[in-house]
Amino acid sequence: MSNQNNSPEDQILVIFGATGDLTRRKLMPALFELEMLKMLPEKFVILGVGRSSISDIDFREHNNKSLKDAYSSAKDQKLIKGFLERLFYLQADTKSEESYIALRKKLQLLRKKSSMQNFNLIFYLSTPPSLYEVIPRLLAKASLNDESEGWKRIIIEKPFGYDLKSAVELNESLKKSWKENQVFRIDHYLGKETVQNVLVTRFSNGIFEPLWNRNFIHHVEITSAENFGVGNRAGYYDQSGALRDMVQNHLLQLVGLIAMEPPASMDSDAIRNETVKVLQSLRPLSEKDVVTNTIRGQYTESTIKGHKVKAYRSEKGISSDSQTETYAALKFYIDNWRWGGVPFYLRTGKHLPTRVTEVVIHFKPTPHYLFAKQEGCKSCNQLIIRIQPDEGILLKFGMKTPGAGFNVQNVSMDFHYNDLSDVRIPDAYERLLLDAMIGDSTLYARIDAVFAAWEFIQPVLDGWKNNASIPLHGYPAGTWGPDIADELIEEADIGWRYPCAALTGDDNFCAL
Ligand code: BG6
Repeated sequence: MSNQNNSPEDQILVIFGATGDLTRRKLMPALFELEMLKMLPEKFVILGVGRSSISDIDFREHNNKSLKDAYSSAKDQKLIKGFLERLFYLQADTKSEESYIALRKKLQLLRKKSSMQNFNLIFYLSTPPSLYEVIPRLLAKASLNDESEGWKRIIIEKPFGYDLKSAVELNESLKKSWKENQVFRIDHYLGKETVQNVLVTRFSNGIFEPLWNRNFIHHVEITSAENFGVGNRAGYYDQSGALRDMVQNHLLQLVGLIAMEPPASMDSDAIRNETVKVLQSLRPLSEKDVVTNTIRGQYTESTIKGHKVKAYRSEKGISSDSQTETYAALKFYIDNWRWGGVPFYLRTGKHLPTRVTEVVIHFKPTPHYLFAKQEGCKSCNQLIIRIQPDEGILLKFGMKTPGAGFNVQNVSMDFHYNDLSDVRIPDAYERLLLDAMIGDSTLYARIDAVFAAWEFIQPVLDGWKNNASIPLHGYPAGTWGPDIADELIEEADIGWRYPCAALTGDDNFCAL
């Protein structure tokens, strides 16, 4: 892979938003896992930057608490102690130029203290999206993009932009002081083992590729469901909604991997060239398509397993007339030779019955069916790629029911990652942070892919904003979204798969 040598060089990781939720929940545990795996460079410093007025000691204690909860053995405690010594903190107002002078000084000090030969720096923007333009600009103004004494990289969380126009503007601003190979746009779905396994499943097995096209595939279904609501992220989420939060990035990247042509090699550009072609081949949705092929919903009050669940509009920080969608479903096509005419159905939502992300490849039925017809599409073969939880793969096919006659029953052939008992599935952030440290951007979103995804989504954003005749359907929390989403799939006998938490408990009526 490009620019990759497997162990990271000495470097300082600067985390903006260091006392925030993402840093605590994802970044620090991922960095600590890398520490445990001895994958961090010997000279490696983490500088947290935030608004809170706290000392290095307070910052260490803050992280100590959350790591201690997750890692409790005596051996872990010793490692945590060593890990915390890498942590430092700087209070800063990220909108003020002076802060960056102070930042520069602190970084020079830390470099000297750790006797780092090079001044290699990564800046991680774990901040509200409104700062994605400001921080890189002010970093550059303080010459913190200058690579004469060591490389400089910047990691930007999603969403990159709020719509196509703002994504273009953000990129224009970044381009003024950062080169594309310095910018790492994180989409943590790409860091998931099971998402990468889509490439391995498709391209390391000879049996799938001949079938992986319009001649044999009837339709493709992608579900990403969550069984919780907006939580404490109202400020961000109410401005975003399911379409911007999940579809424009994570799920379209997944579509890219499912639908791409085989890359020429595993080189970062070779892979990203192929996924971007898929995104650029998405058939643009017309105003009419937005009316007929998209569904938006918002969860309403309900009782789940005896517990009362609030409506989205009654959640803390959400306005009582919010029009933000917590559920989105889309039908679309990819206009290329491989996929011409094959519908793709995609849905995502908060407060659905279970947490699950999976891709279902529905194969076409046999041309002439010899046996007694089964109800629904059960005669169709399905390949289910389970991204999470109970990560694995399931192939469904018809088999003779033992006994008289030729009755067919559906059976499953399944593989669960759990069966590889000695293998731990690393968290996406672990992989992605390590990749950024070694300069490998394969699993980061390239700007052309980000633009292509916004371009596809833009008519939906516009239609949902401007066309009052497109309803925002209510759905009771804990259900599979608005009933009307069933009508997206027009053909008789075909419907959404209703997955359970367990990959094989998938009989459309698993206990919820
Ligand atoms: C984040 C979204 O990017 O992805 C969240 O902002 C969502 O709203 C999360 O919950 C889902 O990630 P995962 O890894 O739990 O599927």
